[in-house]
Amino acid sequence: MPGRLEPEPLPRRDFLGLSAIWSAILAFVAAALGAVRLPMPAVFPESNSRVKLGHAERFPRGSATHLSDLRIWVYHDAAGLYALSSVCTHLGCVAGRSKDGTFKCPCHGSVFDVAGKVVAGPAPKRLNPLELSLAPDGQIVVDTRRFTGAESRLKV
Ligand code: FES
Repeated sequence: MPGRLEPEPLPRRDFLGLSAIWSAILAFVAAALGAVRLPMPAVFPESNSRVKLGHAERFPRGSATHLSDLRIWVYHDAAGLYALSSVCTHLGCVAGRSKDGTFKCPCHGSVFDVAGKVVAGPAPKRLNPLELSLAPDGQIVVDTRRFTGAESRLKV
């Protein structure tokens, strides 16, 4: 009975050559997948521009509430609620609010009055009033990317 032929072991040099080729192919496929995925953003900035601020009781009439994480001030005057961005319209620094209610930008010295209008400095336009609305659950919602008119108020 003739003996079975054993497969010849792969020579070390061929094994290393095949390993290098397969490694190169895998690296190319991974790079191609990454290149295909690159134009797709991992974060959709529009999706988180609307933020719930809580219920109206958080902002009593006559109050000025600073929400530093959002860089906004929320005011409640006789006409209703309104929100003002404290981001300077010059180059985007955060303007600080003084005790008298005016805003001063620490970067290049722009000054804004209590309503956000430019009083001095290089800022080209007023601080942006932000759109407020009511969520179905009754909470106040601010859209940090939607600007509204300076006279706009949310009646609560
Ligand atoms: S960034 Fe505010 S004045 Fe320049």
